[in-house]
Amino acid sequence: MTKSRVVIAEEIAESGLERLRNAGFEVDIQLEKSPEDLRHRIVGASALIIRSATNVDAELLAAGNELVVVARAGVGLDNVDIAAATARGVMVVNAPESNILSAAEHTMALILAISRNVPQAHSALIQGRWERSKWEGIELASKTLGILGLGRIGALVAQRALAFDMRIIAFDPFISAERARELNVEMMSIDEVIAQSDILTIHLPKNKQTVNLIDTKMLALAKPSLRIINVARGGIINESDLAQALGNGTIAGAAIDVFVTEPTKSSPLFELDNVVVTPHLGASTREAQDRAGEVVADMVCLALNNEFVPFAVNLEASDANETLKPFVPLAQRLGRVFASLVDAPPEIFEISITGEIGAYDPGLISISALKGALSVWTNNAVSLVNAPVIARQLKIQVNKSSSKTTQHRDYVNLVTLRSGSHNLSATLTGRRREARIVMIDDHLTDIPPSEYMLIVKNDDRPGAIGRVATALGNANINIANMDVGNTETVGSALMCISTTTAVSKEVIETLRTLDGITSVTAIGS
Ligand code: NAD
Ligand code: MLT
Repeated sequence: MTKSRVVIAEEIAESGLERLRNAGFEVDIQLEKSPEDLRHRIVGASALIIRSATNVDAELLAAGNELVVVARAGVGLDNVDIAAATARGVMVVNAPESNILSAAEHTMALILAISRNVPQAHSALIQGRWERSKWEGIELASKTLGILGLGRIGALVAQRALAFDMRIIAFDPFISAERARELNVEMMSIDEVIAQSDILTIHLPKNKQTVNLIDTKMLALAKPSLRIINVARGGIINESDLAQALGNGTIAGAAIDVFVTEPTKSSPLFELDNVVVTPHLGASTREAQDRAGEVVADMVCLALNNEFVPFAVNLEASDANETLKPFVPLAQRLGRVFASLVDAPPEIFEISITGEIGAYDPGLISISALKGALSVWTNNAVSLVNAPVIARQLKIQVNKSSSKTTQHRDYVNLVTLRSGSHNLSATLTGRRREARIVMIDDHLTDIPPSEYMLIVKNDDRPGAIGRVATALGNANINIANMDVGNTETVGSALMCISTTTAVSKEVIETLRTLDGITSVTAIGS
């Protein structure tokens, strides 16, 4: 068997690469490739690992004909077209906690550097200039620190700035009053934050709402003594508006780690001596790089092994614990069987989990069942990522539910799929947790799901089993397993038969003509 190939488009920690090799994947290092070269290298690869310099656009995703997962060794996902990846069923993961501490510490380094002019004074001194009064700075104690974006990094910066006796104010409409109180932060509007801050630091994602958020108009609200810090993303502050505000005294200083174009060797900001710049160093610590590399390697391994991936950003499921996980492949198999029972995509598809598993969110089980069913109902390449998207395109309303109440006389846990008059339930039984279909269209059964199955409904009169078995025998089809479903409804019976090979259309037609047979559904044939 050929090894799945993981393309590494940007440098990640050796320990991460080692994890991928140890897991049996081919690690294909393709650093600093042009977009065109990368499009060639991605053909046939199962995974792509990037940092912030690779633009994962619709074109690159289309070239990645076998891609299962794109992994971002870091936080920001502004260089990945998540919508295009989702539509193609490609999972996108990041390492959300890996470098937040490093980014917060770099922010503190830049706040101190710009407040005390450390780089400027250093540079002057080593050039032979002892400039004590020129580089006089400001204290942080009692100053107001404004934070735009009080998420993971913003909160770490707030905690550290409190140790410097700063007053902290912030703008972030998605943060609750309780969380702000917990962090000792006063929340206010963006205009008020800019107007009141002595130091303003940005920790927002880059998106349509935040690009050019800080422009000439916003900077005009600031005190002339304001120093502004950006360790988030280039372009959230308009660079030429910032250079102008620094040049004409609208604000006092800026410390910038991230730029609209990266890498960059020139900027109007580089000519100003009230500016401190670093080349996107926020996450550049050994610790953060090790964590980011290892986390994305682990996420890629999980994704390529078809397991739940906790840091997937485009998976419509939040929970997968040890109780739920074994039911994920069961739900997918059940979805395939159900789709054969209901031959066209239904308007309403109900997916429920009951019993012990019903204590948890049904999201993951539901998208697994949906994936199984859609792989029969459509010709699309369906994955856990795009199954809900395809369902919406087909106008299938998916109703998922969970309940702790046991629904079966013999089994505690049940995964049940339902649409119109059809229903199908399965569980895992025994010490080996073997899969069993335990209900088909209200008939109690007990049969393992298998690749080739026949569900035969007949009048409840003697002889039907014999006639079906004889017809299969005449067609040289081996029966591997069989169960006769019971129902309370008098006169209706159901046989569930596993065969070792596919059953041809002709044989299925023959079965349909047998005396007393009311319907025959073939799975996998
Ligand atoms: P996060 O998602 O934890 O926090 C972002 C916060 O911004 C959230 O609280 C959110 O509610 C808020 N927010 C989102 N849109 C907003 C809007 N329009 N107005 C106001 N608030 C809004 O993210 P994080 O992990 O703290 O990362 C923040 C930024 O830092 C990201 O852009 C990330 O890419 C960047 N980053 C840079 C480096 C670096 O090396 N310089 C390292 C790590 C992260
Ligand atoms: C991030 O978003 O994680 C940072 O910008 C760091 C990086 O790109 O490595």
